[in-house]
Amino acid sequence: MAYKDLHEEPFDESTIAKLEIFEDYAQAWIPTFVMQGVPTICIFDFFAGTGYDKNGVAGSPIRILEKIREQIGYIFQKKVKVKVYLNEFEPLKREQKKFEFLQSACFEYLEMHKDVKRAIEIEYFNENFEDLFPKLILEIMQFPSLVYLDQNGIKFLSDKYLLELERTRQTDFLYFVSASYFWRFGDSKEFKEHLDIDMIEAKKDPYKFIHRNIIEQLRKKLPNNTKVKLYPFSLKKGANIHGIIFGASHPRAVDKFLSIAWKRNETNGQANFDIDDDASKKQLDIWAGKKLTKIEEFKENLRTKVLAGQIKNNFDALHFVHDEGHIGNHAADSLKEMKKNREITYDGTSPLVTYDNVYKNIKKMEYKILKK
Ligand SMILES: C[S@@+](CC[C@H](N)C(=O)[O-])C[C@H]1O[C@@H](n2cnc3c(N)ncnc32)[C@H](O)[C@@H]1O
Repeated sequence: MAYKDLHEEPFDESTIAKLEIFEDYAQAWIPTFVMQGVPTICIFDFFAGTGYDKNGVAGSPIRILEKIREQIGYIFQKKVKVKVYLNEFEPLKREQKKFEFLQSACFEYLEMHKDVKRAIEIEYFNENFEDLFPKLILEIMQFPSLVYLDQNGIKFLSDKYLLELERTRQTDFLYFVSASYFWRFGDSKEFKEHLDIDMIEAKKDPYKFIHRNIIEQLRKKLPNNTKVKLYPFSLKKGANIHGIIFGASHPRAVDKFLSIAWKRNETNGQANFDIDDDASKKQLDIWAGKKLTKIEEFKENLRTKVLAGQIKNNFDALHFVHDEGHIGNHAADSLKEMKKNREITYDGTSPLVTYDNVYKNIKKMEYKILKK
Protein backbone atom coordinates (compact mmCIF):
# COMPACT_ATOMS: atom_id res chain seq x y z
CA MET A 1 0.00 0.00 0.00
CA ALA A 2 1.38 3.43 -0.92
CA TYR A 3 2.18 5.75 1.94
CA LYS A 4 3.59 9.18 2.25
CA ASP A 5 7.00 9.59 3.76
CA LEU A 6 6.47 11.65 6.85
CA HIS A 7 9.96 13.07 6.98
CA GLU A 8 10.06 14.56 3.54
CA GLU A 9 7.78 17.29 4.81
CA PRO A 10 7.28 19.10 8.11
CA PHE A 11 5.21 17.36 10.78
CA ASP A 12 1.63 18.57 10.59
CA GLU A 13 -0.61 19.52 13.48
CA SER A 14 -2.01 16.03 14.06
CA THR A 15 1.46 14.44 13.91
CA ILE A 16 2.64 16.92 16.51
CA ALA A 17 -0.40 16.07 18.65
CA LYS A 18 0.49 12.39 18.38
CA LEU A 19 4.12 13.04 19.31
CA GLU A 20 3.08 15.19 22.26
CA ILE A 21 0.87 12.38 23.59
CA PHE A 22 3.77 9.96 23.13
CA GLU A 23 6.13 12.23 25.03
CA ASP A 24 3.61 13.14 27.73
CA TYR A 25 3.23 9.46 28.39
CA ALA A 26 7.01 8.94 28.58
CA GLN A 27 7.16 11.87 30.99
CA ALA A 28 4.63 10.14 33.26
CA TRP A 29 6.01 6.62 32.77
CA ILE A 30 9.75 7.12 33.39
CA PRO A 31 9.53 8.54 36.96
CA THR A 32 7.06 5.85 38.02
CA PHE A 33 9.78 3.21 37.76
CA VAL A 34 12.76 5.44 38.46
CA MET A 35 11.37 6.61 41.80
CA GLN A 36 10.76 2.99 42.79
CA GLY A 37 14.41 2.25 41.99
CA VAL A 38 13.51 -0.52 39.52
CA PRO A 39 16.94 -1.78 38.30
CA THR A 40 16.20 -1.82 34.55
CA ILE A 41 13.53 -0.22 32.39
CA CYS A 42 13.22 -0.31 28.59
CA ILE A 43 11.82 1.98 25.95
CA PHE A 44 11.27 0.65 22.43
CA ASP A 45 10.59 2.86 19.44
CA PHE A 46 10.07 0.35 16.63
CA PHE A 47 9.28 2.94 13.95
CA ALA A 48 11.60 5.72 15.00
CA GLY A 49 11.88 7.77 11.80
CA THR A 50 14.82 10.12 11.30
CA GLY A 51 15.01 11.97 14.60
CA TYR A 52 13.76 15.31 13.28
CA ASP A 53 11.41 16.49 10.55
CA LYS A 54 12.47 18.65 7.65
CA ASN A 55 12.25 21.78 9.82
CA GLY A 56 14.21 20.36 12.71
CA VAL A 57 11.16 19.56 14.85
CA ALA A 58 11.98 16.59 17.08
CA GLY A 59 10.42 13.23 16.34
CA SER A 60 9.75 10.40 18.77
CA PRO A 61 13.36 9.22 19.43
CA ILE A 62 14.65 12.67 20.34
CA ARG A 63 11.56 13.31 22.46
CA ILE A 64 12.24 10.06 24.34
CA LEU A 65 15.83 11.14 25.03
CA GLU A 66 14.59 14.54 26.15
CA LYS A 67 12.17 12.96 28.64
CA ILE A 68 15.01 10.81 30.00
CA ARG A 69 17.08 13.97 30.37
CA GLU A 70 14.37 15.60 32.48
CA GLN A 71 14.68 12.73 35.00
CA ILE A 72 18.44 12.36 34.78
CA GLY A 73 19.19 13.31 38.42
CA TYR A 74 16.82 10.67 39.78
CA ILE A 75 18.02 8.08 37.25
CA PHE A 76 21.58 8.42 38.61
CA GLN A 77 20.47 8.71 42.21
CA LYS A 78 18.33 5.57 42.05
CA LYS A 79 20.85 3.73 39.84
CA VAL A 80 18.26 2.78 37.25
CA LYS A 81 19.50 1.38 33.97
CA VAL A 82 17.47 2.82 31.08
CA LYS A 83 17.69 0.81 27.87
CA VAL A 84 16.56 2.51 24.68
CA TYR A 85 15.90 0.55 21.48
CA LEU A 86 15.42 2.51 18.27
CA ASN A 87 14.52 0.97 14.96
CA GLU A 88 14.06 2.49 11.51
CA PHE A 89 13.66 0.57 8.28
CA GLU A 90 12.35 1.57 4.90
CA PRO A 91 10.83 -1.47 3.29
CA LEU A 92 9.79 0.34 0.14
CA LYS A 93 12.87 2.29 -0.77
CA ARG A 94 15.36 -0.26 0.52
CA GLU A 95 17.88 2.40 1.35
CA GLN A 96 19.68 3.26 4.54
CA LYS A 97 19.33 7.03 4.54
CA LYS A 98 16.61 7.36 7.15
CA PHE A 99 18.39 4.99 9.45
CA GLU A 100 21.60 6.97 9.06
CA PHE A 101 19.74 10.20 9.82
CA LEU A 102 18.28 8.59 12.92
CA GLN A 103 21.66 7.49 14.17
CA SER A 104 23.38 10.78 13.53
CA ALA A 105 20.52 12.76 15.12
CA CYS A 106 20.81 10.65 18.27
CA PHE A 107 24.63 10.67 18.28
CA GLU A 108 24.57 14.44 18.06
CA TYR A 109 21.97 14.71 20.83
CA LEU A 110 23.97 12.41 23.09
CA GLU A 111 27.18 14.32 22.43
CA MET A 112 25.41 17.48 23.54
CA HIS A 113 23.92 15.75 26.57
CA LYS A 114 26.70 13.57 27.90
CA ASP A 115 24.78 12.87 31.11
CA VAL A 116 22.03 11.18 29.09
CA LYS A 117 24.68 9.27 27.15
CA ARG A 118 26.11 7.98 30.42
CA ALA A 119 22.74 7.11 31.87
CA ILE A 120 21.37 4.98 29.06
CA GLU A 121 22.19 1.97 26.96
CA ILE A 122 21.06 2.67 23.45
CA GLU A 123 20.76 0.22 20.57
CA TYR A 124 19.96 1.05 16.97
CA PHE A 125 18.32 -1.34 14.55
CA ASN A 126 17.76 -1.15 10.84
CA GLU A 127 15.34 -4.05 10.51
CA ASN A 128 11.91 -4.82 9.30
CA PHE A 129 9.61 -4.72 12.33
CA GLU A 130 8.33 -8.19 11.64
CA ASP A 131 11.86 -9.58 11.94
CA LEU A 132 12.89 -7.46 14.89
CA PHE A 133 9.85 -7.85 17.11
CA PRO A 134 10.34 -11.60 17.71
CA LYS A 135 13.97 -10.93 18.60
CA LEU A 136 13.11 -8.31 21.19
CA ILE A 137 9.96 -9.74 22.71
CA LEU A 138 11.89 -11.55 25.45
CA GLU A 139 13.47 -8.28 26.47
CA ILE A 140 10.03 -6.64 26.48
CA MET A 141 8.73 -9.43 28.68
CA GLN A 142 11.61 -9.30 31.11
CA PHE A 143 11.58 -5.63 32.11
CA PRO A 144 9.02 -2.88 32.60
CA SER A 145 8.73 -1.65 29.03
CA LEU A 146 7.25 1.25 27.16
CA VAL A 147 6.65 0.31 23.53
CA TYR A 148 5.92 2.75 20.72
CA LEU A 149 4.56 1.37 17.47
CA ASP A 150 4.30 4.43 15.28
CA GLN A 151 3.65 2.54 12.07
CA ASN A 152 2.41 3.80 8.74
CA GLY A 153 -0.99 2.24 8.12
CA ILE A 154 -2.42 -0.61 10.16
CA LYS A 155 -0.46 -3.75 9.36
CA PHE A 156 1.27 -4.31 12.67
CA LEU A 157 -1.87 -4.11 14.72
CA SER A 158 -2.49 -7.69 13.68
CA ASP A 159 -3.22 -10.34 16.32
CA LYS A 160 0.29 -11.67 15.88
CA TYR A 161 1.73 -8.61 17.62
CA LEU A 162 -1.18 -7.32 19.67
CA LEU A 163 -1.77 -10.65 21.39
CA GLU A 164 1.93 -11.05 22.00
CA LEU A 165 1.99 -7.68 23.73
CA GLU A 166 -1.09 -8.68 25.70
CA ARG A 167 0.85 -11.59 27.17
CA THR A 168 3.59 -9.37 28.55
CA ARG A 169 2.81 -8.28 32.08
CA GLN A 170 4.65 -5.01 32.49
CA THR A 171 4.28 -3.38 29.11
CA ASP A 172 2.51 -0.17 28.21
CA PHE A 173 2.15 0.34 24.49
CA LEU A 174 1.11 3.12 22.18
CA TYR A 175 0.14 2.20 18.67
CA PHE A 176 -0.53 4.60 15.85
CA VAL A 177 -3.20 3.46 13.40
CA SER A 178 -4.47 4.97 10.18
CA ALA A 179 -8.04 4.13 11.05
CA SER A 180 -9.53 5.63 7.91
CA TYR A 181 -7.77 2.93 5.86
CA PHE A 182 -10.22 0.50 7.43
CA TRP A 183 -13.17 2.50 6.22
CA ARG A 184 -11.85 2.33 2.68
CA PHE A 185 -10.09 -1.01 2.44
CA GLY A 186 -11.16 -2.97 5.53
CA ASP A 187 -13.03 -5.57 3.50
CA SER A 188 -10.21 -6.29 1.07
CA LYS A 189 -8.38 -9.60 1.20
CA GLU A 190 -5.02 -7.89 1.71
CA PHE A 191 -6.40 -6.07 4.75
CA LYS A 192 -8.10 -9.08 6.23
CA GLU A 193 -4.82 -10.97 6.14
CA HIS A 194 -3.40 -8.44 8.58
CA LEU A 195 -6.40 -7.64 10.66
CA ASP A 196 -9.80 -9.19 10.38
CA ILE A 197 -12.30 -6.57 11.43
CA ASP A 198 -16.05 -6.88 10.93
CA MET A 199 -16.57 -3.87 8.69
CA ILE A 200 -20.35 -3.89 8.97
CA GLU A 201 -19.95 -3.53 12.70
CA ALA A 202 -17.11 -1.01 12.33
CA LYS A 203 -19.25 1.12 10.02
CA LYS A 204 -22.37 1.05 12.18
CA ASP A 205 -21.66 4.61 13.28
CA PRO A 206 -20.58 7.64 11.24
CA TYR A 207 -17.07 7.73 9.79
CA LYS A 208 -15.65 9.95 12.54
CA PHE A 209 -16.05 7.08 15.04
CA ILE A 210 -14.06 4.54 13.00
CA HIS A 211 -11.02 4.59 15.28
CA ARG A 212 -13.16 4.13 18.40
CA ASN A 213 -15.15 1.32 16.75
CA ILE A 214 -12.04 -0.56 15.70
CA ILE A 215 -10.84 -0.50 19.29
CA GLU A 216 -14.17 -1.95 20.42
CA GLN A 217 -13.46 -4.90 18.15
CA LEU A 218 -9.83 -5.21 19.18
CA ARG A 219 -10.99 -5.50 22.79
CA LYS A 220 -13.02 -8.54 21.79
CA LYS A 221 -9.91 -10.17 20.31
CA LEU A 222 -8.12 -10.09 23.66
CA PRO A 223 -8.48 -13.17 25.90
CA ASN A 224 -11.53 -13.18 28.20
CA ASN A 225 -9.42 -12.92 31.32
CA THR A 226 -7.13 -10.19 30.02
CA LYS A 227 -6.10 -7.36 32.28
CA VAL A 228 -5.09 -5.22 29.33
CA LYS A 229 -7.27 -2.21 28.70
CA LEU A 230 -7.27 -0.37 25.39
CA TYR A 231 -8.13 3.30 24.93
CA PRO A 232 -8.41 5.38 21.77
CA PHE A 233 -7.36 8.91 21.02
CA SER A 234 -8.59 9.88 17.56
CA LEU A 235 -6.68 12.38 15.49
CA LYS A 236 -8.35 14.13 12.62
CA LYS A 237 -6.10 15.09 9.76
CA GLY A 238 -8.01 16.76 6.95
CA ALA A 239 -10.67 14.29 5.94
CA ASN A 240 -8.82 11.36 7.50
CA ILE A 241 -9.17 9.89 10.96
CA HIS A 242 -6.07 8.39 12.49
CA GLY A 243 -5.39 7.67 16.07
CA ILE A 244 -3.51 6.33 19.00
CA ILE A 245 -4.34 3.11 20.75
CA PHE A 246 -3.03 3.00 24.25
CA GLY A 247 -2.80 -0.38 25.96
CA ALA A 248 -1.74 -1.32 29.47
CA SER A 249 -2.79 -3.61 32.26
CA HIS A 250 -1.73 -1.66 35.34
CA PRO A 251 -4.37 0.75 36.72
CA ARG A 252 -1.64 3.34 37.33
CA ALA A 253 -0.78 3.30 33.62
CA VAL A 254 -4.43 3.58 32.65
CA ASP A 255 -4.92 6.44 35.10
CA LYS A 256 -1.92 8.31 33.72
CA PHE A 257 -2.92 7.89 30.10
CA LEU A 258 -6.48 9.01 30.76
CA SER A 259 -5.25 12.15 32.58
CA ILE A 260 -3.08 12.99 29.59
CA ALA A 261 -5.93 12.40 27.16
CA TRP A 262 -8.38 14.52 29.18
CA LYS A 263 -5.82 17.30 29.56
CA ARG A 264 -5.48 17.34 25.79
CA ASN A 265 -9.23 17.51 25.28
CA GLU A 266 -11.22 18.54 28.34
CA THR A 267 -14.52 17.93 26.57
CA ASN A 268 -14.16 14.32 25.46
CA GLY A 269 -10.67 13.02 26.42
CA GLN A 270 -10.71 10.97 23.27
CA ALA A 271 -9.94 13.04 20.19
CA ASN A 272 -8.34 16.21 18.88
CA PHE A 273 -11.79 17.36 17.74
CA ASP A 274 -15.35 17.51 19.08
CA ILE A 275 -16.03 13.87 18.28
CA ASP A 276 -19.32 13.67 20.22
CA ASP A 277 -20.65 17.08 19.16
CA ASP A 278 -20.58 18.19 22.77
CA ALA A 279 -20.48 21.88 21.81
CA SER A 280 -23.99 21.62 20.38
CA LYS A 281 -25.23 19.69 23.42
CA LYS A 282 -24.52 22.67 25.64
CA GLN A 283 -27.47 24.43 24.05
CA LEU A 284 -31.08 23.64 24.71
CA ASP A 285 -32.82 22.00 21.76
CA ILE A 286 -36.43 23.22 21.75
CA TRP A 287 -37.62 19.85 20.46
CA ALA A 288 -35.35 17.37 22.18
CA GLY A 289 -34.62 19.31 25.38
CA LYS A 290 -31.09 19.35 26.71
CA LYS A 291 -28.84 16.55 25.49
CA LEU A 292 -26.20 15.39 27.93
CA THR A 293 -22.55 16.03 27.12
CA LYS A 294 -20.14 13.13 27.47
CA ILE A 295 -19.09 14.27 30.96
CA GLU A 296 -22.67 14.93 32.07
CA GLU A 297 -23.72 11.50 30.84
CA PHE A 298 -20.88 9.85 32.74
CA LYS A 299 -21.83 11.70 35.93
CA GLU A 300 -25.45 10.72 35.55
CA ASN A 301 -24.54 7.05 34.98
CA LEU A 302 -22.32 7.10 38.04
CA ARG A 303 -25.11 8.65 40.13
CA THR A 304 -27.56 5.97 39.00
CA LYS A 305 -25.10 3.23 39.94
CA VAL A 306 -24.39 4.76 43.34
CA LEU A 307 -28.11 5.08 44.12
CA ALA A 308 -28.64 1.49 42.94
CA GLY A 309 -25.95 0.33 45.37
CA GLN A 310 -23.69 -0.92 42.56
CA ILE A 311 -20.98 1.62 43.36
CA LYS A 312 -20.52 1.57 47.10
CA ASN A 313 -17.15 3.20 47.65
CA ASN A 314 -14.18 4.93 46.03
CA PHE A 315 -12.68 1.58 44.90
CA ASP A 316 -15.81 0.77 42.89
CA ALA A 317 -15.96 4.37 41.65
CA LEU A 318 -12.38 4.34 40.32
CA HIS A 319 -12.94 1.03 38.52
CA PHE A 320 -15.99 2.55 36.87
CA VAL A 321 -13.98 5.68 35.97
CA HIS A 322 -11.31 3.57 34.23
CA ASP A 323 -13.81 1.28 32.51
CA GLU A 324 -15.58 4.30 31.08
CA GLY A 325 -12.35 6.05 30.06
CA HIS A 326 -12.81 9.05 32.38
CA ILE A 327 -10.79 10.66 35.18
CA GLY A 328 -11.33 10.62 38.93
CA ASN A 329 -12.29 14.32 38.99
CA HIS A 330 -15.41 13.64 36.94
CA ALA A 331 -16.57 11.10 39.49
CA ALA A 332 -15.57 13.28 42.43
CA ASP A 333 -17.60 16.21 41.06
CA SER A 334 -20.64 14.00 40.69
CA LEU A 335 -20.28 12.50 44.17
CA LYS A 336 -19.80 15.92 45.78
CA GLU A 337 -22.96 17.13 44.08
CA MET A 338 -24.83 14.08 45.36
CA LYS A 339 -23.60 14.81 48.87
CA LYS A 340 -24.66 18.44 48.57
CA ASN A 341 -28.11 17.31 47.43
CA ARG A 342 -28.27 14.92 50.40
CA GLU A 343 -28.55 11.84 48.18
CA ILE A 344 -25.49 10.29 49.76
CA THR A 345 -23.04 11.02 52.51
CA TYR A 346 -19.40 10.15 53.18
CA ASP A 347 -16.77 11.21 55.70
CA GLY A 348 -14.75 14.33 55.04
CA THR A 349 -14.89 16.60 52.03
CA SER A 350 -13.40 14.42 49.30
CA PRO A 351 -14.85 11.16 47.94
CA LEU A 352 -11.21 10.03 47.36
CA VAL A 353 -11.59 8.82 43.77
CA THR A 354 -7.90 8.90 42.93
CA TYR A 355 -5.34 6.29 42.00
CA ASP A 356 -3.22 7.08 45.09
CA ASN A 357 -6.09 6.65 47.53
CA VAL A 358 -7.31 3.42 45.98
CA TYR A 359 -4.09 1.63 45.02
CA LYS A 360 -1.25 3.27 46.93
CA ASN A 361 -2.63 4.34 50.30
CA ILE A 362 -5.47 1.76 50.16
CA LYS A 363 -7.79 4.28 51.78
CA LYS A 364 -11.37 3.13 51.40
CA MET A 365 -14.27 5.56 51.52
CA GLU A 366 -17.81 4.23 51.76
CA TYR A 367 -20.72 6.17 50.25
CA LYS A 368 -23.92 5.89 52.29
CA ILE A 369 -27.20 6.35 50.45
CA LEU A 370 -29.57 8.82 52.13
CA LYS A 371 -32.36 8.98 49.58
CA LYS A 372 -33.09 7.23 46.30
C1 LIG B 1 5.05 7.20 11.04
S1 LIG B 1 6.73 7.05 10.76
C2 LIG B 1 7.42 7.16 12.34
C3 LIG B 1 7.74 8.54 12.74
C4 LIG B 1 8.58 8.67 13.97
N1 LIG B 1 7.96 8.09 15.13
C5 LIG B 1 8.88 10.11 14.21
O1 LIG B 1 8.47 10.67 15.24
O2 LIG B 1 9.51 10.72 13.36
C6 LIG B 1 6.95 5.37 10.42
C7 LIG B 1 8.37 5.01 10.14
O3 LIG B 1 8.46 3.59 10.06
C8 LIG B 1 9.35 3.22 9.01
N2 LIG B 1 8.89 1.89 8.57
C9 LIG B 1 8.00 1.59 7.64
N3 LIG B 1 7.83 0.26 7.55
C10 LIG B 1 8.63 -0.30 8.48
C11 LIG B 1 8.88 -1.65 8.88
N4 LIG B 1 8.30 -2.65 8.29
N5 LIG B 1 9.74 -1.87 9.90
C12 LIG B 1 10.34 -0.82 10.52
N6 LIG B 1 10.16 0.48 10.15
C13 LIG B 1 9.30 0.73 9.16
C14 LIG B 1 9.20 4.32 7.99
O4 LIG B 1 10.39 4.47 7.22
C15 LIG B 1 8.91 5.55 8.84
O5 LIG B 1 10.06 6.30 9.10
